[in-house]
Amino acid sequence: MGRAFVYVIVGGGVAAGYAALEFTRKGVSDGELCIISDEPVAPYERPALSKGFLLPEDPTRLPSFHTCVGANDEILTPKWYKEHGIELVLGTRVKSVDARRLTLVTSTGETITYNFLIIATGARALKLEEFGVEGSDAENVCYLRDLSDADRLATVIQSSSNGNAVVIGGGYIGMECAASLVINKINVTMVLAGAHCMARLFTPKIATFYEDYYMGKGVKFIKGTVLTSFEFDSDKKVTAVNLKDGNQLPADLVVVGIGIRPNISLFEGQLTIEKGGIKVNSQMQSSESSVYAIGDVATFPVKLYGEMRRLEHVDFARKSARHAVSAIMEPEKTGEFDYLPCFYSRFFAFSWQFYGDHVGEVVHFGEYEDGEVFGAYWVKEGHLVGCFLEGGTKEQYETISKATQLKPAVTDMEELEREGLGFTQTV
Ligand code: FDA
Repeated sequence: MGRAFVYVIVGGGVAAGYAALEFTRKGVSDGELCIISDEPVAPYERPALSKGFLLPEDPTRLPSFHTCVGANDEILTPKWYKEHGIELVLGTRVKSVDARRLTLVTSTGETITYNFLIIATGARALKLEEFGVEGSDAENVCYLRDLSDADRLATVIQSSSNGNAVVIGGGYIGMECAASLVINKINVTMVLAGAHCMARLFTPKIATFYEDYYMGKGVKFIKGTVLTSFEFDSDKKVTAVNLKDGNQLPADLVVVGIGIRPNISLFEGQLTIEKGGIKVNSQMQSSESSVYAIGDVATFPVKLYGEMRRLEHVDFARKSARHAVSAIMEPEKTGEFDYLPCFYSRFFAFSWQFYGDHVGEVVHFGEYEDGEVFGAYWVKEGHLVGCFLEGGTKEQYETISKATQLKPAVTDMEELEREGLGFTQTV
């Protein structure tokens, strides 16, 4: 026989941490909530792993980045969970779930029953093997999804000083890691499959600004090609990478950031899946009424665009977590989740935020030359739908977020370009 809880969260990442805080604020009682995580530590702010965690001086370490420090809220240490009567089951994988019978089985063989289940299993890093490249288990090939990956990367960085790193992928993991490697005095070459970095979001103009800066720091870019194989030494350490375009690059360290896949396998065949994630309604409730999904694993209705989407961003993990807890504990008081997509990143001294949707025509504004404050608007069918801003103040980010949510009409693109950031203040 196992234990029974009113609420169980499977997965102990960002969304789980924010859900836990919200449960306590809504008045959960001692012994009602259990969080099961296969990581050995309490929920933490995952974005720190590619930023402060990799710094050579004074790197960020737990407990300083447990959730919910990213929202300037309490830092939830294991002691906090204990004091709030929350059962934190760490280093334990959920092996199977029976969504109809409201039970699950963990890797220790325990059966746990619940009244409500929240799925917060996040995502895993895509492996090179999935693209037919063997050898990514070599000790100097690093992925970056969890704390153990980050520990390993930090160790390999230390032993690669003044050496060569190859970063595969130009998304935010690649860009943030490349900056951290440069700060650690490692020579970096980035290999990008597409025409420029952050290809899913950046326009060529935005990408050029950041790439020029990276090149000024000594980073080389090789574009339009992919990794095909590794060269190894007798210890099975990678010594070089071979690219499809025929290039061979020496490597003391390889960082791979080529995308993620949501962890949904426990629920396939039991819950409705859409766009690779668990389909939920505007209460974050899945096709089984007692099962909710939040964070990277959830495909939810974006009210603003009338469309189902899955987002892989920390702001969504935090807000969807709060919404699901509210929907479970105070259903009559909880309206539809009305979420404006938001994403941010930081590398070197840069910091940007993006709100909304990156579709339609683009208008750039601001000072791309000096690189202090600049951005872009996306305009679709005569309405502003997206805004990117580098170097904004807290107030400016709040203003662009509010304006983007309102989808204001744009009649004259040239006028919008002239007004620049000022436009959002007039909305
Ligand atoms: P998350 O991955 O945080 O947590 C899932 C948890 O479930 C993990 O602990 C996992 O081990 C556990 N788990 C999975 N299956 C399990 C099972 N069967 N049993 C038990 N436990 C299980 N976003 C952004 O907007 N800006 C940024 O700058 C960054 N930066 C960034 C850097 C790095 C290095 C990463 C990896 C990610 C980011 N992100 C980001 C993305 C952001 O971190 C991500 O969107 C959130 O962590 C998603 O939160 P979740 O709780 O959904 O998953």
